[in-house]
Amino acid sequence: MKTKIEKIDRMQIDEAIMEEAGQIIKQGGLVAFPTETVYGLGANALDEEAARKTYTAKGRPSDNPLIVHIAEKSALEEIVEELPEETKALTDRFWPGPLTLILKKNARVPYGTTGGLDTVAVRMPDDPIALELIRRGGGYVSAPSANTSGRPSPTTAQHVAEDLDGKIDMILDGGNVNIGVESTIVDMTSTPPMILRPGAVTKEMLEEVIGEVETDRTLLSENSPQAPKAPGMKYRHYAPKAQMILIEGFPSDTVLAIKQLAYDKAVFGRKGNGEPYRIGIIATAETMSQYTYGTVKSIGSRENRRTITKNLYGILREFDEEGVDIIYSEGFFGEAIDAAIMNRLLKAAGHKRIPASEILKLQTYRKIIFVSKDDNCRGPMAERLFQRQTLLQEYDIESRGMIVLFPEPMNPKAEEIMRRNEVDISEHEALAFEEKDITPDTLILTMEKAQKRKIITEYGFHPNIFTLNEYIDEEKEVESMYGKSLEEYEAGYLELEIYMRKLARKLNTEAKEKWEEYI
Ligand code: TXA
Ligand code: MG
Repeated sequence: MKTKIEKIDRMQIDEAIMEEAGQIIKQGGLVAFPTETVYGLGANALDEEAARKTYTAKGRPSDNPLIVHIAEKSALEEIVEELPEETKALTDRFWPGPLTLILKKNARVPYGTTGGLDTVAVRMPDDPIALELIRRGGGYVSAPSANTSGRPSPTTAQHVAEDLDGKIDMILDGGNVNIGVESTIVDMTSTPPMILRPGAVTKEMLEEVIGEVETDRTLLSENSPQAPKAPGMKYRHYAPKAQMILIEGFPSDTVLAIKQLAYDKAVFGRKGNGEPYRIGIIATAETMSQYTYGTVKSIGSRENRRTITKNLYGILREFDEEGVDIIYSEGFFGEAIDAAIMNRLLKAAGHKRIPASEILKLQTYRKIIFVSKDDNCRGPMAERLFQRQTLLQEYDIESRGMIVLFPEPMNPKAEEIMRRNEVDISEHEALAFEEKDITPDTLILTMEKAQKRKIITEYGFHPNIFTLNEYIDEEKEVESMYGKSLEEYEAGYLELEIYMRKLARKLNTEAKEKWEEYI
C-alpha cells in the first residue's frame, strides 16, 4: 500500500485534502492525524472491519479497545447507554481537550472497536485538523496512537511514517503536537470515577469539577497482581529498545546518582561481546551540563513541565536511533502533571527504578582537593597524577594553594618533570584555597601539616581535612621542592606517584566495600 503524506496548515485547512481523508475513513480505510496529545490512527469507529485493520496496521492485540473520537459534544449521547451525572460537568469543562471518558456503550458501537467490552472510551480532541477529519469521516473516528505497538507514541508525522508508512492510506502532517502524552482516561462507570491513565487533565483538575476521583491502583505499583482496568495499560508500550532505569529523588541527588551509575557503566562495564556500553541520559535543561559520561539529552525544562510532556516520546525515539544500550532517566515529582510524566517514563523503564539516595550512599567523596603552599608545584602534580589513576568512582580532582595572590603559572622545573612523564601541565594557573572549598563531600588533602593547620585555624575543624601522608598511612609529608635540583624534583615526582597509587587503592577499596554491602 502506498501511504499518502499530506501537509496541513492548521490556520488554513485544505478542504480538498480533508474531504479525501474523510472519504477514506468512510470507506473503511486508515488515516493518521494530529491531535493535541499524540498522533492518532483514525478509522470509522462504527465499522467492525475498520477496527480489525487498525489492529493489523499497529500490530496490536485486538483485546485492547480503541478510543472513539467525536467532533461535537452532542455526538456522545448517540453512542452511549447512559450519561452519569458528572459527565456533563466534565465535558463542559474539558472538551475539546485531553480527556477520555469511559461509559456504557450502546448497540451502535461494535465490539470490534471496544475489544469486546460493554463500555466505550470517548473523547473530543482539541485540534482543528482532527475535528475536521472526524466531521468529514462520519462523526465517529476510532484512533489509537499511530505507532507500531510497543514503540513510543508519535508526536510528529515523521514518527508516524517511521512506523506505519506502507501500512495505512494517508498521514495528515500537522507538525508537532502540543501536549505530547496521551489523554487522561477516566472511567465514569465506577463510583467515584476512576483515573485509568494519567494525562494533562490532572486528578486535581478533575476533582475541582466533580469532587472525589480515584486512581487505578494497578498504575501505581509495579507488580500488582490485578490487571489494570484499561487493558492497554498492561502492555509495556512506550518502550525504547534500550534498557531504561529511572532514578528518583530530589533533582540534585538524581544528577549525582546518575553520574555515579554512568561513570561505573562507562568506565568498567562491558557488554557480552566485550564492547563498552553506549549510555544515554535523560536530563533536563537545568541539569544537562552537569553530566560527564554518556549521550545526554534534555527532555525539557523543570520550570515548564509542558516542554517535558512534549519531548518525552521524541527523546525515546532518538535514543532508539542512536542505538544506546542503557538509558538513565531523571525522575519528576512535585507537580500534578508529574503523574502523567512518571507513568510514561516508568512504563518505558518496565518499572525499573532506583532511589537516588541508595546510590548516593555508596560514594563518600565527590571531590578531592590537593592543597599545597602556593599551588604551582606539588599540588598540581598530585592533581594530574591522581587523574591518571584507575578510580572506581568519579571525582572532581583539583588543587589549591594557601598563599596565592594572583594566578601564578606552574613552576618551570615541575613543568619539565611532568613533560618528561608525558603530562602537559603548562596551562595550570594557581588558585587560592577558600572557605567554600570545604564541603561535606570534598576530601581535602594537604601536602604538609602546616597547610592543614592553617585551614583549621582559619575556617575551623572539619572531618574531611587530612594531610596526604596521614590519610594514606605514610610517615613522610610531601615536602616542598622549591629551589632544589631537577633530580630532586624527579625524586619528588616518583614519591608523589607512589602516594597517588596508594590513595587510589584506599578510595577504591572503600568504594568496593560499600558496593558489595549494597548488592
Ligand atoms: O490521547 C489519546 O487518547 C490518543 C489520541 C490519538 O487521541 N489515543 C490513545 O489511544 O492514546 P490508545 O489506543 O493508544 O490508548 C487507549 C487506551 C488503552 O490503554 C485502552 O486500553 C484504553 O484506552 N481503553 C479504551 N477503551 C477502553 C474501555 N472501554 N475501558 C477501559 N479502557 C479502555
Ligand atoms: Mg497507545
